[in-house]
Amino acid sequence: MTSYPAAAIRRLVTTVKFMKALVRPPGRSYVECLSCHPLRNSIDLKRAQMQHEVYRSVLANLGLEVLSLPQDDSHPDACFVEDCAVVHGRKALITRMGAPSRRGEESAVESALGEYLVTKRAEAPATIEGGDVVHLPDRLICGESQRTNAEGIRQMGEWLGVKVDTISDEGMMHLKSHVTYLGEDTFISTERYARHPVLEGMGVIVVPRREEYAADTLAIGDSVLMPAGLTESQRLVKRAGFDVISVEVSEFEKCDGALTCLSILL
Ligand code: GLY
Repeated sequence: MTSYPAAAIRRLVTTVKFMKALVRPPGRSYVECLSCHPLRNSIDLKRAQMQHEVYRSVLANLGLEVLSLPQDDSHPDACFVEDCAVVHGRKALITRMGAPSRRGEESAVESALGEYLVTKRAEAPATIEGGDVVHLPDRLICGESQRTNAEGIRQMGEWLGVKVDTISDEGMMHLKSHVTYLGEDTFISTERYARHPVLEGMGVIVVPRREEYAADTLAIGDSVLMPAGLTESQRLVKRAGFDVISVEVSEFEKCDGALTCLSILL
């Protein structure tokens, strides 16, 4: 009988495995995206498109098959595909977004995911956006937020057949701007939720206050994509044993978007 080292077995059960990434490059109307960021008026579309191209190549270099949808010029926020669906196992919930201007982005995502997964649409009065959902191998943590309501969380848990823990805060836009899961029973979080009961029993790397944007990371296997320039947070993640890949996402940050927002992993 083959025996595997304990660390390898632990890694297998504490890390979510992905094969594909669905993405959509920013379209011509991107500069009109929803944003409260102070630099939202200085968004550079060409630079955003270049940063997106680099993002896609990083995912491909990590071994993912990158499925790229055509750009959607009629929805400025459409590159943030993560909000359009929540995937767990072989199922996807197609979301009904809390931001009314974003409804309609999900149709192309639904068609693409339908090639690989069984899909179902969230129905009114549910609102739910993928940016509120943190994925662990055996449960989801969902923000009840400005974009996601209790009915959205209920429909998601029922369809995906998975335990869902909730962090409720009507002052939060998306949970993943504050907490993401790195794998290996470890989260990265801003101060805001670092001691929340749903994270109890797990490791939590707390980012410095001036680097809060670093809490939205994209973990793929042992690698963690992190925003460029947030060096103290990157150092903490490296010290915890992860490989950090630094990615320039300035033009997405200006649009209140981040690394996870740009893809759906399946
Ligand atoms: N700009 C991303 C969002 O507001 O949904």
